[in-house]
Amino acid sequence: METVLLTGGMGYIGSHTAVELLREGYDVIIADDLSNSSAEVLDSIEKITGIRPLFYQVNAADKEQMQPIFRDRAVSAVIHFAGYKAVGESVAKPLMYYRNNIDSALTVLELMAEHEVQRFIFSSSATVYGEHNVPPMTEDLPTGGITNPYGWTKYMIEQILRDAAKADQELSVVLLRYFNPIGADESGLIGEKPNGIPNNLMPYVAQVAAGIRDHLNVFGNDYPTPDGTGIRDYIHVTDLARGHVAALRYSRTHTGAETFNLGTGRGVSVLELIHAFEKANGIKIPYEIAPRRAGDIAEMYAAPDKAEKILHWRAEKTIEDCCRDTWRFQKKIADELRILRSH
Ligand code: WQD
Repeated sequence: METVLLTGGMGYIGSHTAVELLREGYDVIIADDLSNSSAEVLDSIEKITGIRPLFYQVNAADKEQMQPIFRDRAVSAVIHFAGYKAVGESVAKPLMYYRNNIDSALTVLELMAEHEVQRFIFSSSATVYGEHNVPPMTEDLPTGGITNPYGWTKYMIEQILRDAAKADQELSVVLLRYFNPIGADESGLIGEKPNGIPNNLMPYVAQVAAGIRDHLNVFGNDYPTPDGTGIRDYIHVTDLARGHVAALRYSRTHTGAETFNLGTGRGVSVLELIHAFEKANGIKIPYEIAPRRAGDIAEMYAAPDKAEKILHWRAEKTIEDCCRDTWRFQKKIADELRILRSH
């Protein structure tokens, strides 16, 4: 049974990947500093799978804290999720983002080299395609022209990984470019729980549905798209997690650096997502048209063919599945909040 280390494994994508790996019989270790997640996620993973992964509350950038994991455990591969990921915050605090995100990757890579761990799977992002490429995005497109430091950290870490793979012939590096992850595990026990006001569309819609927010602001309806609103490739987080399991399997017989889009290949507009949520859950989502958000592009969706051909993986869940699963999780949070308030 292979042991896989998930840095940032208590986060939204990480926790769903832990669940899918456990369901596939892998041994999972989670390293997370809980700066953007809570320890209760571990209980939820155990409730869903019957297994409680080994958990180290550590900062992935801190070599001292991370060392014991590699010294004491037979890690076969690392899936690196640990990193700050708020686009707006990265514009306000670029040094914090470069320091944390790049140091975390470098620390993990150094420990891997010292302990002969040779399989690294990286949580990258479609944001590296920048604003000059025309969809559908294929992996060979030039990257750059990014509008925020968060996206640049993904771009820079991709470059670090390609150089590391060139220098070490034994190393396997798989770069996974996520499009827009949404939804939640069908159990409703884990999901996206942003701190404060959600930046992303789906969690904001879910909070409007829960009555936490009054209405949704649609950031612009004057884009060159069929209904004027922004188009994105929304992928169910469970499909995304399963893409990591496929990448892990692929990395067993792979060396070098290989990049894969993890998206559905389908573009969905803001208004289409609102209507899908209303239809799937029977809830009205009031919205107002607001000015465009700085840095947004009109259209971004994946060409998913390479992952399908080489990883034998493709997204299977529908946008309605995403909306239903999101709402199930949101209701669970609302129930928890009500119970908390009633005490
Ligand atoms: C989606 C669409 C908005 C909120 C970001 C990051 C990207 C990745 C995923 C980490 C756009 C519109 C949104 C709202 C709206 N994160 N919108 N009202 O910007 O595509 O991608 O999250 O890797 O790096 O850039 O996602 O959900 O913020 O926006 O109208 O309240 O919804 O204009 O068209 P985005 P998003």
